Amino acid sequence: MVERALEAGCRPFRALVDGSRIPPVADRFVERGGEAFVGGDQVRKLVAGLGVLHSVIALFHRPQRPSASELAKRCHRLVIVEGVDNPANIGSIVRNAAALGWDGILLDHTSADPLSRRALRVAMGTAFSIPHARTTSLIDELGAMTDRRLYALTPHADAADIRTILVPADHRRAILIGSERNGLSDAVLSFATQVRIPMAAGVDSLNAAAAAAVACYALA
Ligand SMILES: C[S@@+](CC[C@H](N)C(=O)[O-])C[C@H]1O[C@@H](n2cnc3c(N)ncnc32)[C@H](O)[C@@H]1O
Repeated sequence: MVERALEAGCRPFRALVDGSRIPPVADRFVERGGEAFVGGDQVRKLVAGLGVLHSVIALFHRPQRPSASELAKRCHRLVIVEGVDNPANIGSIVRNAAALGWDGILLDHTSADPLSRRALRVAMGTAFSIPHARTTSLIDELGAMTDRRLYALTPHADAADIRTILVPADHRRAILIGSERNGLSDAVLSFATQVRIPMAAGVDSLNAAAAAAVACYALA
């Protein structure tokens, strides 16, 4: 994770490293302007707050985020989330989007932070390489996306089967994913073509991140 953050150009701040086996990444951390301190096993465990003992724990300055409109301008394939407040789900959505070649994540203000510790761990550092933006006015941003096809993911039976959707290769597109509890709001649903991933009878829905993976693959 520390390697990936450095590779992505994130600016290092402070690191705590295992003094008995200093990891090579500590040198690069310092070369790029960070400060590294030695911490024993107990100290590193205490600071990380996890059961696992890491050879390096690091803090970086938060990279500057693009605005929602800058992100939309720049990205051909956008994943948009509304109300996804579980950081593990956000981490998983980021990882799926990055792995399947999508190039940006737009989050509404109630969704979890892709740079929170839990989300970063689940995303395995991919959050450093795929840009994201947050917005307090998702509806306005969607209204401005007139050059893009919008696909709202919903398990509802009257939505179009995702297997019937064909997006021409040169068309900009976005998928929209809703919260675990309520799904996408009616306001957001009304902006987009509603698509569903067919499921076995009796199953209510897929997890938001699983639905994102299927849709990122199917609509890529
Ligand atoms: C746990 S589901 C939410 C279920 C919620 N009760 C609803 O009716 O939308 C979380 C999100 O994953 C996506 N999702 C889950 N299952 C889906 C499916 N079968 N087809 C399309 N999207 C799905 C949707 O974006 C949904 O908002």
